[in-house]
Amino acid sequence: MAFVEICLVLATIGLLLFQWSTGTFKAFKDRDLYFEKPHPFVGNMGASALQKASFQKQISEFYNRTRHRKLVGLFNLRTPMIQINDPQLIKKICVKDFDHFPNHQTLNIPNERLVNDMLNVMRDQHWRNMRSVLTPVFTAAKMRNMFTLMNESFAECLEHLKSSQPFAAGENAFELDMKVLCNKLSNDVIATTAFGLKVNSFDDPGNEFHKIGKTLSFSRGLPFQKFMMCLLAPKVFNFFKLTIFNSENVEYFVRLVVDAMQYREKHNITRPDMIQLLMEAKKESKNNWTDDEIVAQCFIFFFAAFENNSNLICTTTYELLLNPDIQERLYEEVEETQEALKGAPLTYDAVQKMTYMDMVISESLRKWPLSAAADRLCSKDYTLTDDEGIKLFEFKAGDNISIPICGLHWDERFFPQPQRFDPERFSERRKKDLIPYTYLPFGVGPRSCIGNRYALMQAKGMLYSLILNYKIEASPRTTKDLWESARGFNIIPTTGFWMQLLPRK
Ligand code: HEM
Repeated sequence: MAFVEICLVLATIGLLLFQWSTGTFKAFKDRDLYFEKPHPFVGNMGASALQKASFQKQISEFYNRTRHRKLVGLFNLRTPMIQINDPQLIKKICVKDFDHFPNHQTLNIPNERLVNDMLNVMRDQHWRNMRSVLTPVFTAAKMRNMFTLMNESFAECLEHLKSSQPFAAGENAFELDMKVLCNKLSNDVIATTAFGLKVNSFDDPGNEFHKIGKTLSFSRGLPFQKFMMCLLAPKVFNFFKLTIFNSENVEYFVRLVVDAMQYREKHNITRPDMIQLLMEAKKESKNNWTDDEIVAQCFIFFFAAFENNSNLICTTTYELLLNPDIQERLYEEVEETQEALKGAPLTYDAVQKMTYMDMVISESLRKWPLSAAADRLCSKDYTLTDDEGIKLFEFKAGDNISIPICGLHWDERFFPQPQRFDPERFSERRKKDLIPYTYLPFGVGPRSCIGNRYALMQAKGMLYSLILNYKIEASPRTTKDLWESARGFNIIPTTGFWMQLLPRK
C-alpha cells in the first residue's frame, strides 16, 4: 500500500474513532439541561480516567463548579449522566419516587460469571427478592456473632505488629505502610466471615486465598483497565467474549463456597459466618436460588468490602496522626472500654458503646467518602417537580443518574470548613443540625449499602486494638496532601499510607 493510502486509512480510522468517542455527547442538547463541554473518550472525567486525580477529586470539583444548579449533565467517559446537586431532589429520586429509579446503572458484562448475580448488579424484582433475603443476614444480632470471628483476625494482626517491632516496647516507633497491613487484615476477615476459611496473611502472606483475592479488584491493575474498557466500549468487550477476571480464579471461590456448604450440610456443622447465614436464608426463601446466586453474595465482599474496609482504617489513622488531640481523646475512650471489659475480649456491644469512636469514623467517612458518587437508572419516565409543583426536568427510561456524594460532603454550606477534620459535627448535640441527604457515605434509600454495619464493626474493632497499643504518628514518608496524591477510585496515596507506630506500653 502506498504511503498516501496508509495515511488515508489511518485518517478514516481516526475519524471513525473520534465520531464514536463523541457520539453520545449530543444527549442533553434538546433537553434543556446545562452541561460542561466533554472531551473525546473521557467526557468530563479526563483527570481521573488518565490517573491524574482521584475520582473523588474530579467529582468534587465538577460539583463545585455546578452546584448552583439543581441538575447538571455529566459525561462519565462516554456515558451521559444527570447529576443531582440538590439534597431535596436526591430524596425525591432515591426515596420518595424510588419506584422510578430502582436499579443501578447497567453493567453490561454477560460473560462475567458471578458479577451479574451480585446484589448490587441485580435488578427489579430479582433484586427485591435477594435484598429481602440478605437484609436479615446483616442485622445487629447476626453481626454480634460474626464479631467473634473478626476478633481472632484483629488479635493475629496485633501479634504480627508486636513481633515486627524492631525495638523494645515503649522505646521507639516503627514505620509501616498502613494500607499493606489493612489489606492483609481485610483479606483474613473476609476469608473467615464470608468464605468460612481461616487464613493468616500476616504469618503466611503467600496463602492462596490472598493471592487469588488480590486479582479480584476492579480498582487497580489489569482488571481496572479491562473495567474501563468495558465501560467505554461494552459491545467490543463482549464481542471478543472478554472477561474482567480470570475464570480460574473465580472458579476457586465458587468451589470454596459450594464445597463448604455441602460439607456443612453433610456433617451438620455450624459457624457464625456468611456461608451459614446464606444457607439458612436459602432454606427459608421461596425462591429457588442457584449455587452461583448464593456464591455471588459472598463474592460481593471482594468488591464492596475489601478495599473499602481497609481504606476506612487508613484514612482514619491518617487523620488521627494529623490530629493528636483527637487521637488522645479516642485513646481515653478505648482505655475506658478495655477497663469495663475486665480482661474479656472486645465485643460487638462494647464497640457500639464507644460514642467518640463513632464520631471519629463518621467524620472520616464525611471527609474521605470512599464512594465518590452513587448512581441510579431511570426505569419509567418521570417528571421531576420542585416543592411548588414546577417542572424541573423530564427523565426518560434509560437515563443514568449520579449522586455526587463527595461534592456534598465537601460543600461548606452543609459542612462548614469542610477540610477540617472535626468529629464534633457528629456529637449528640450537633448531629441534629446535619441537613438531611447531605451526608451519604453509604448511599441513600432502599438501594443503599447493605454492609454498613459490617464495615463499621471491622473498622472500629481494628482501631480499638491499634489505638490501645500504639500511638499513631507521622513518619518521614507520610503523605503531606492526601487529596492531591490520591488516584483512581480509592483515596490511596500513590506512594502508600506510610505512618509510624509508637508502642504505648
Ligand atoms: C466503609 C465501607 C463501605 C462503604 C463506604 C460502602 C459504600 C456503599 C455505597 C455508597 C453504596 C451505593 C449505595 C447507593 O447507591 O445508594 C454501596 C452499596 C452496596 N454495598 Fe457498600 N460500602 C461499604 C462496605 C460494604 C460491605 C462491607 C459490604 C458487604 C457485603 C457492602 C455491600 C454493599 C452492597 C451489596 C451494595 C449494593 C446494595 C444494593 O444494590 O441493594 N458494602 N456501598
